[in-house]
Amino acid sequence: MSNTSLRRGRYGVDGPGWLLALGGGVVAPLAAVAAGGPRWLLRIPPVLAVPAGLYLHATVRGKFLVWEEQLDALDLRGDERILDLGCGRGAVLTAVARRVPKGRVTGVDIWRTVDQSGNNQQAAAGNAEREQVADQVDLVTADMRQLPLGDDQFDVVVSSMAIHNITSARGREEAVREAYRVLKPGGRLLIADIFHARRYLDILLAAGAVNTSCTDAGPRMWWSGPWIPTLLVSAEKPAAHPGDDDRDGTQQS
Ligand SMILES: C[S@@+](CC[C@H](N)C(=O)[O-])C[C@H]1O[C@@H](n2cnc3c(N)ncnc32)[C@H](O)[C@@H]1O
Repeated sequence: MSNTSLRRGRYGVDGPGWLLALGGGVVAPLAAVAAGGPRWLLRIPPVLAVPAGLYLHATVRGKFLVWEEQLDALDLRGDERILDLGCGRGAVLTAVARRVPKGRVTGVDIWRTVDQSGNNQQAAAGNAEREQVADQVDLVTADMRQLPLGDDQFDVVVSSMAIHNITSARGREEAVREAYRVLKPGGRLLIADIFHARRYLDILLAAGAVNTSCTDAGPRMWWSGPWIPTLLVSAEKPAAHPGDDDRDGTQQS
């Protein structure tokens, strides 16, 4: 399962503007010196080459390797209902769909090209075809802060590198709360994200999540260096027990 070279889709790059800036910082000084510019410009490319390389590796390979391991660890039965929040072109969507041949996977996105190159619903649908999982996949255009989905629907909710793109703390909280709302009792939520991911854990704990963890995904998902690591936030919604459906509708753990 973990062999990313078997993947047939085309998944673009995350945050293409950042990659362009880092790559441009390597190439532009070399071009300027070649055109007769000052030689001190040659000091810039070596400084930016490693961050640019790490970023490129994270987006075209590292992210896929980390998710393959995370999805393997979920030990899915194969008939689950799964939701991918901010699925983009479907890197995680199609990887998880391969693991649930008798299940269904829903991808939700607003398809922002600033967040992923070539991002649109057709690209995600095309990748589902290439990975031979199109029959299991539903794509929904919606904002993850307000999901057009009922409560307690999904066995697993995943989200990769998406929630941080919501600029306000309140918006990110809404997205995390929505992810938890649509999770079935006993279901598992797994988020990989940068910057604010520890805060997601607080939100989930406040919502009643159990078996939570927050771990560092390591150098394979460094977005230019250790100063932008990816955190993996995992949580479960407590399983429903007979009698939990009490008068005020609250869930007992
Ligand atoms: C960096 S891309 C990651 C895509 C995919 N999860 C992956 O790992 O390849 C972030 C995705 O989040 C989506 N996104 C950003 N804000 C969103 C929102 N408020 N609701 C739904 N999707 C959103 C973007 O359109 C983009 O597809």
